[in-house]
Amino acid sequence: MIELTTIQDMREWSRARRAGGGRVGFVPTMGFLHEGHFQLVDRARAEAGAVVLSVFVNPTQFGPAEDFSRYPRDLARDRTGAAARGVSCLFVPLVEEMYPRPGVVTVQPGPLADHLCGPRRPGHFAGVLTVVAKLFHIVEPDIAVFGRKDVQQALLIRRMAADLDLPTTVSIAPTTRAADGLALSSRNGYLSSEERRAAGAIPRSLDAGHAAFSRGERRAGTVLAAARAALAAEPALEVEYLEAVDPDRLAPVDAVEADTILALAARAGRTRLIDNIILGQGTAADARVAR
Ligand code: PAJ
Repeated sequence: MIELTTIQDMREWSRARRAGGGRVGFVPTMGFLHEGHFQLVDRARAEAGAVVLSVFVNPTQFGPAEDFSRYPRDLARDRTGAAARGVSCLFVPLVEEMYPRPGVVTVQPGPLADHLCGPRRPGHFAGVLTVVAKLFHIVEPDIAVFGRKDVQQALLIRRMAADLDLPTTVSIAPTTRAADGLALSSRNGYLSSEERRAAGAIPRSLDAGHAAFSRGERRAGTVLAAARAALAAEPALEVEYLEAVDPDRLAPVDAVEADTILALAARAGRTRLIDNIILGQGTAADARVAR
């Protein structure tokens, strides 16, 4: 595994690989890697052969009251894990390399950010889209893989690539979950053992919505009530939103269908957790790890 830190070296590496007839797969991350990230690596390798993984905690996607400064970082561990998982190139730019001056021109998400996390994190998706556009122009990948755990982010990036004619295919991989169903996240490490136990109610809530749908329920309000009841059983969680949205516009629906996205954000103590399912599938369709 080669490790690069400059934009020029990264671009040269990708261009050399493509000049040799190879393809480039790309997995952008903020590091503190876990099995959810590595599943994306596996998919990128299967689709492109070589995998670039970036580790960059992007300051522009964090709000002033969010956790940028305390976001977990462990580059030594990420390096070992990425190498063991067959990453070809680790790209680890410094903030000064990515933002030598404050950016003036940015990529704005538009109405796909009107619901779910968009209104709760002003500027977040503009920060994400802008850094991902920059990374795409630096790495020039044939394909890039994102996780469905962050469904609004993944769909926005796919839409950006389509609307701006970026020559990168955006692939979306299933959520990887712990044994109790909690989606793996770099932020799970913030949780106390009591908060970690309570967080298990998040996937249970989504599956309660899925169960209602499977029984034939099509009224969004009733599906959401079933999901909300499972969350109410866990007072240690504070629900920020719980919504049933259509997968094209990410706007709330009155009548649910199999491809409706059931999404929620909740706080356990100071930690904000998000998760979602495709209503017709439930969490059982996702990947699980034993830990
Ligand atoms: P980060 O939170 O590190 O996530 C990097 C990628 O891993 C994202 O595509 C995310 O959806 C995916 N991922 C995280 N946990 C997952 C899980 N349990 N199952 C499946 N995929 C999972 O998302 C970001 O970083 C940043 O916003 C980024 C896109 C890198 C831009 O800065």
